[in-house]
Amino acid sequence: MSRVAVVGAGYVGLTTGACLSHLGHSVVCADIDAERVARLTKGEVPIMEDGLPELVAEGIESQRLRFVVGAAKAAASAEFVFLCVPTPQGEDGAADLSFVEDVAREIAPVLRSGTVIVNKSTMPVGSTRLVQRVLGEAGATLEQIGVASNPEFLREGTSVRDFLHPSRVVIGCDDPPIAVRVSELYKSLDAPILITDPASAEMIKYATNAFLATKISFVNAIASICEAVDADVREVAMGMGYDTRIGSEFLHPGPGYGGSCFPKDTAALLHMADVAGYDFSLLRGTVEVNRRQHERMIAKARRLVGGSLAGALIGVWGLAFKANTDDLRDSPAIYIVRRLQEEGAVVRAFDPAADESAAAVLEGVELAADPFEAVAGARLLVVATEWDQFRWLDFARVHDAMAEPAVLDTRNLLDSSALRRLGFSYDGVGRS
Ligand code: UGA
Repeated sequence: MSRVAVVGAGYVGLTTGACLSHLGHSVVCADIDAERVARLTKGEVPIMEDGLPELVAEGIESQRLRFVVGAAKAAASAEFVFLCVPTPQGEDGAADLSFVEDVAREIAPVLRSGTVIVNKSTMPVGSTRLVQRVLGEAGATLEQIGVASNPEFLREGTSVRDFLHPSRVVIGCDDPPIAVRVSELYKSLDAPILITDPASAEMIKYATNAFLATKISFVNAIASICEAVDADVREVAMGMGYDTRIGSEFLHPGPGYGGSCFPKDTAALLHMADVAGYDFSLLRGTVEVNRRQHERMIAKARRLVGGSLAGALIGVWGLAFKANTDDLRDSPAIYIVRRLQEEGAVVRAFDPAADESAAAVLEGVELAADPFEAVAGARLLVVATEWDQFRWLDFARVHDAMAEPAVLDTRNLLDSSALRRLGFSYDGVGRS
């Protein structure tokens, strides 16, 4: 059992802290938000993440998981300090490391000899060394402090499962005994452990996200061609996916990828490529196809209402960037809603996980209490997030509630034949 501090109690930090405590380590999770810490101490988990409330409750009960305000308090007695603070996109596309640097400065004076700082947040190549330098400048004795990169590959919504059943654990560190110490934290997990130099570990994270984003843009591009040649992209993706060199995951066409990671990480990698003097035209293409894919949804909506969105009442189902999360960051659904509004449409939206925070993000959008209320009197229904519950609704009732029965299914979630039989006009993505 090791003593671990986790700095930052967001999606990554909270999952990391709760899962490490589940694995038997003693974890102190720090955040700067006193209210968040107070709620977590009572076992109230502020994000929607399958299995996380149970692990937090287990950790509190077993006294292996505590929450405190302030990084220094958590780091003072730790053998490992996980940095899980945000690295938002700066103005030039590069990741902004100021939160990371602030934490490094704050904890440097209190670190014990032998402590290892572990960079968990997605940080550009060179960050392990940057953290080392900042710690040194702020008074840490570098001969006694280790720094390692240990990128996370957690998907929101399934992050607990992803943490406990990882495809691999990557540790980047120049000092082999320190890398081995970090790897021992995960020794009860059944996963390959890859120990590399810090730069390679950092690059693995960016290359992975950029590759997955490219896979999505690729299938979205194929979907656009399928529409023109009367093919069905779902059949095409299935046929491609059986090729084990390709694999079937991340081949679902949609409104374009979103969320807090792919848009930010592709921008950061493009920036890194620029600085390195490499013209990463392939990745620029991925990003551009994604932007156009969002916009194609607006063109489809326009067509379905007869040419102009001005004055049209539109019901939108789903606001989160994907199903089973309440995260609205860089959500394609939010982009679609804003663009519909820009074109003069009036939007009423329903999302099963949306709360007051959605209302704050979406000025001028009425939030409906259920899917039927969202489409009452509407000329178009836009399915923007693939929540499973939307599949099984009473579509005869939806039909009767709408002014014009038309559906834009940006996630290919619904049964188009059944909808057409009920009298709906239907358009999906990559389907003739
Ligand atoms: C992503 C990666 O999948 C994780 O491995 C990584 O750890 C994480 O970013 C991160 O860097 O922290 P996440 O953003 O939670 O995870 O969500 P994904 O499930 O990857 O979905 C991202 C976006 O792609 C969503 O908008 C989703 O709807 C879209 N998507 C995904 C598709 O349009 N098609 C697909 O086939 C898959």
